Amino acid sequence: MRVFIGIGLPAECRRAIREAVSPLRAKRAPVSWTPEPNLHVTLKFLGQTPPERVDEIGALLVETAKGFGPFEFAVEEPGGFPTLRAPRVLWVGIREPLELVGKLHENMENVLSGAGYPREGRRFHPHITVGRVRDRLPPGWGEEYAKALSGKSFGVVGVSSIQLYESRLSPGGAAHYVLRDVPLLREPANPGREEKEK
Ligand code: 2AM
Repeated sequence: MRVFIGIGLPAECRRAIREAVSPLRAKRAPVSWTPEPNLHVTLKFLGQTPPERVDEIGALLVETAKGFGPFEFAVEEPGGFPTLRAPRVLWVGIREPLELVGKLHENMENVLSGAGYPREGRRFHPHITVGRVRDRLPPGWGEEYAKALSGKSFGVVGVSSIQLYESRLSPGGAAHYVLRDVPLLREPANPGREEKEK
């Protein structure tokens, strides 16, 4: 099965992104737009994985998430990979001053590289993929995308868990299924202390 780790987004945030993108969709550029239910932040793509390893990966994710409590990020600002002038991927960014998503990713790389999943070569840039460019775009199209989404807020997202997903590919597109939901529970700084003080 094809698996990845990510942060799912609430329905209101996904709807707000879909609504902002919809005038661009109507222009019929060669872009595969992410279906609204699939909008997410990828933390780590694991790729083809035997189903027997899901339990082990779930346990490693619990390990990864230790020390992280719930946090929030704001969803805003469009961007493009590699650039907005000649984009292959159109995305919406996240703003979170403490960079906890980056720290979660780094923890994940450390824990999962020990389990045989190679580290990503590229620098991690958390984002929500909104569309993938399939063919040559009309000139200025990336800038038009940026103009349509710039200055808009797609909401503040409360993150209380991370998810292990299966992505099933079919001719109609990918469907995502949550295999494990790992809560972000900050451990007490000194567990057992309260017991002793009683
Ligand atoms: P992205 O959208 O952030 O680029 C599920 O398929 C997710 O895994 C995708 O949304 C994509 O993240 C990421 N992904 C898919 N194929 C990948 C690959 N070959 N390498 C790295 N990430 C990949």
